[in-house]
Amino acid sequence: MSSPSGSSNESSTYTVLVTGANSGLGFSTCCRLIDEFLFSRPQNHILHLIPTTRSASKSADTLDRLRQHLTKTLRRSNGTTLGISVLLERRIRLEAEQVELTSLVSVKRLARRLRKRGEQEGLRIDALVCNAGIGGWEGFDMLKATWGLLTDLIDTVTYPRYKTGGKGWVTKPQMAGAEGEAEGKEEGVDRDRDRDTDSTLGEVFTANVFGHYLLAHDLVPLMSSTTPDQHPGRIVWVSSIEAYPHSLDLDDLQGLHTTESYESSKRLTDVLVLSSELPSTQQWVSPYLSLPGSSKSQDQDGQELRRPKMYLSHPGVCGTSIAALPKLLEYCMFAVFYVARLLGSPWHCVSSYLGAVSVVWLALTPAAQLEELEHEEGKAKWGSACDVRGDERVIRTEVSGWGWGGRVGEVPDGGLRSAKGRWRGMRTVSKESREEFEETGRKVWRAMEELRVKWESRLEGVE
Ligand SMILES: NC(=O)c1ccc[n+]([C@@H]2O[C@H](COP(=O)([O-])OP(=O)(O)OC[C@H]3O[C@@H](n4cnc5c(N)ncnc54)[C@H](OP(=O)(O)O)[C@@H]3O)[C@@H](O)[C@H]2O)c1
Repeated sequence: MSSPSGSSNESSTYTVLVTGANSGLGFSTCCRLIDEFLFSRPQNHILHLIPTTRSASKSADTLDRLRQHLTKTLRRSNGTTLGISVLLERRIRLEAEQVELTSLVSVKRLARRLRKRGEQEGLRIDALVCNAGIGGWEGFDMLKATWGLLTDLIDTVTYPRYKTGGKGWVTKPQMAGAEGEAEGKEEGVDRDRDRDTDSTLGEVFTANVFGHYLLAHDLVPLMSSTTPDQHPGRIVWVSSIEAYPHSLDLDDLQGLHTTESYESSKRLTDVLVLSSELPSTQQWVSPYLSLPGSSKSQDQDGQELRRPKMYLSHPGVCGTSIAALPKLLEYCMFAVFYVARLLGSPWHCVSSYLGAVSVVWLALTPAAQLEELEHEEGKAKWGSACDVRGDERVIRTEVSGWGWGGRVGEVPDGGLRSAKGRWRGMRTVSKESREEFEETGRKVWRAMEELRVKWESRLEGVE
């Protein structure tokens, strides 16, 4: 199958798997992938899009809505429906998959199905978009929110401090996923607040990070490249601007003892991805990005493997169902977001289609171009930003202690430098902060690898 650069000597199918694709950013990512692929790639190139959801009915509905979107896009561009079905068949191939990320059994099963198709049909994953996620919030402090809106609107709706996060949320016992599927039930639907930490994991941590972490590792065989003209696949992580360093406690990696498990999971994502190419983390990154069950850098035929690369994105602030607000409050949220944008907030994309710009850019930009950008200016958190008129763009985003590219004294080209939209607790990158960030990266990689190895041995045979 294909490689992302789109040069003429490459085969023409480009496969992207997007998790959590039935709503919000995930669905918009799929729509935007279709639109950008259709109008930026040669006519003989095919997008094989695999949206994942949590159930067969959500998948059917998602495919339906994606087909409607495609029809609209083609109508807009052609002014006619003539040839739509031909184009649809020829250039966009939609196929649904299901996964419940808080069930490691479900994750393993999806990976196994896809790997099998890799062996049988040569399926390759060019981009894995780790989008699905939950907030883990229980409500919010109305008084605090109102006061914040009246006195400090942009900061309040960019870095909300009025949300009440749940504490100690755990997944269903992991082995229960196997039985659930055998009985034909939807996996992970009921939230168990079981505290048996031996068979459960932090729910927000697993939905947002660990489920994807395991999935990406298991898909390494479909994302590695063995030929010089083929680029390795890419793993695009979706983080957030709410990825505060203080939320992540290395002694509580799963965020079980904090009310900021969402923010903790996003900071964890930032640290994992931004440190993934540092020499000091390779002891753990190498086995992670190697074929499952080995730390080999060659396939079974002795071909040198080039491993997938990890990229970091965030969608700015978008109105989606992640906050699960009642309808009236949802309208208010949209209104306030637009006001924030009018007042100059760079992060209020508001629409998830605009917010998807950075994710789609990372998924479709030629690999060589991305590699060069990060080689020259450092590994970045690529964010979706927006101007007052709603014109979106992708910019490097400052990360506390890391800066825009992990380089002391850097001045970002195109990155956001104004105080508007900057988190007030931001630690400017310095020699000390950079060293601390790297040390955190080493610790986090070691802990994640230990957890992965532990759970993989437990799950052996259960799958
Ligand atoms: N909205 C924003 O402003 C914003 C800002 C920063 C980052 N993000 C990130 O963007 C991503 C998408 O969020 P969103 O705002 O689009 O929220 P959303 O509309 O609630 O979408 C979340 C998606 O993830 C799926 N999902 C949740 N838990 C899952 C699990 N355990 N297994 C499999 N799928 C699961 C959901 O499926 P169901 O429909 O079945 O629940 C849904 O499809 C998240 O990672 C979020 O942190 C969003």
